Amino acid sequence: MNILVTGGAGFIGSNFVKHILERKGNRDKIIILDALTYAGNLDNLSEYLNKDNIIVPDEQVSLEAFRWNLESELAEMPSFERDSARLSFKLFGRDYLAAKTEQMEEAASKSLEDSQLVFVAANISDQRIAKQLLKLADVVVNFAAETHVDRSILNPDQFIKTDVYGTYILLEAARESKKLIKFVHVSTDEVYGAAHEKSFSESDPINPRNPYSASKAAADRLVYAYNQTYGLPINIVRPSNNFGPYQYPEKLIPVMILKALREEQLPVYGNGKQIRDWLYVRDTAKAIELVLEKGSIGEVYNIAGGNEKENIWIVHSILNHLNKPSSLIKYVKDRPGHDVRYSLDDSKIRKELGYSETATLEERLQETVEWYVKNQNWWEKILKNDQEYKEFMEKWYGER
Ligand SMILES: NC(=O)c1ccc[n+]([C@@H]2O[C@H](COP(=O)([O-])OP(=O)(O)OC[C@H]3O[C@@H](n4cnc5c(N)ncnc54)[C@H](O)[C@@H]3O)[C@@H](O)[C@H]2O)c1
Repeated sequence: MNILVTGGAGFIGSNFVKHILERKGNRDKIIILDALTYAGNLDNLSEYLNKDNIIVPDEQVSLEAFRWNLESELAEMPSFERDSARLSFKLFGRDYLAAKTEQMEEAASKSLEDSQLVFVAANISDQRIAKQLLKLADVVVNFAAETHVDRSILNPDQFIKTDVYGTYILLEAARESKKLIKFVHVSTDEVYGAAHEKSFSESDPINPRNPYSASKAAADRLVYAYNQTYGLPINIVRPSNNFGPYQYPEKLIPVMILKALREEQLPVYGNGKQIRDWLYVRDTAKAIELVLEKGSIGEVYNIAGGNEKENIWIVHSILNHLNKPSSLIKYVKDRPGHDVRYSLDDSKIRKELGYSETATLEERLQETVEWYVKNQNWWEKILKNDQEYKEFMEKWYGER
């Protein structure tokens, strides 16, 4: 099968891609469609990328897809001769191929002849590219999204463009496909809004309370509508809070690990008593694979970690693992509209598809802390070079 994975350079997407490619006897091929926003990182997939499988639409070679101070480098690039479907070029020691937008299908399928993976650096909202890549795909898993609640509070615009409109573009392209077997959309537990006494099951009403979760809820229902209206073979998954390797250092667990490692203050919102249900990212990947293979068409599946913990518990555990003092904790002004608890009932995926987690939260948290300790190069590059990261951290935490 050819699996089109959108957002495959992000945290969960890249872990999912690796999960699929590492399966014993795997013969599936993967096409990644990812715009390489601040959250997308080719380093997440380095072992699978080579000079013949990263393709950039020629009209975007002008920078949009690359964000790390490339202007001076590009100024020295030779002009393109646009007579072949693909053309090599090099940036900061990495090889890329450029292809004409209208030849993306041809360029991607050529890469797939010799590789298990092709990476197309483009936006899901680009209808021309979405349509061509959908022609190659047997199944789609849609991870691509703007994902950070705090950023959605500062600037909701891009969340509507990607999470809602981008999903619509993919659905339209999927509707035209003659061979698509399934479209799996990755939604979130946040669409239910705050859980007070109970845990939400799939039939509970949704009640999103911030611009991120509202844009995800709109996409979630749009995907459902394409099943009900046009018969598109879909599944929707609603995972809880993920953690694990390669998570961009703006979310709770990596922020706290990196600050603790550098002995900086750990900013904890409000009283730190907000409850999240923590799910290890490779368990999410496994659950999505099960849904892809066995999920009943049209159904929604919650995926929970079964690990509800207060944020402050997570922060103390990280400090304990790293042997750092709790005096590093600094309570800061809470996020507006902060949902006090997320809680999922995921008995459906456990009973129907045989999902279960593979280890305890304590074990996975320890592994995750160790991963960040060992992979300093990965996160230092982001902390040092990513101007957008610095600006966001200053703007958001600086005022608290
Ligand atoms: N991280 C969590 O805890 C969590 C929990 C539940 C659901 N989810 C959902 O899972 C999905 C993946 O989350 P994540 O944490 O890996 O996100 P992430 O922010 O780490 O990665 C998002 C990826 O999408 C890409 N992207 C963004 N806009 C794009 C666009 N317009 N076109 C193409 N690519 C684009 C980015 O470049 C990046 O590679 C999202 O849909 C998110 O809403 C995440």
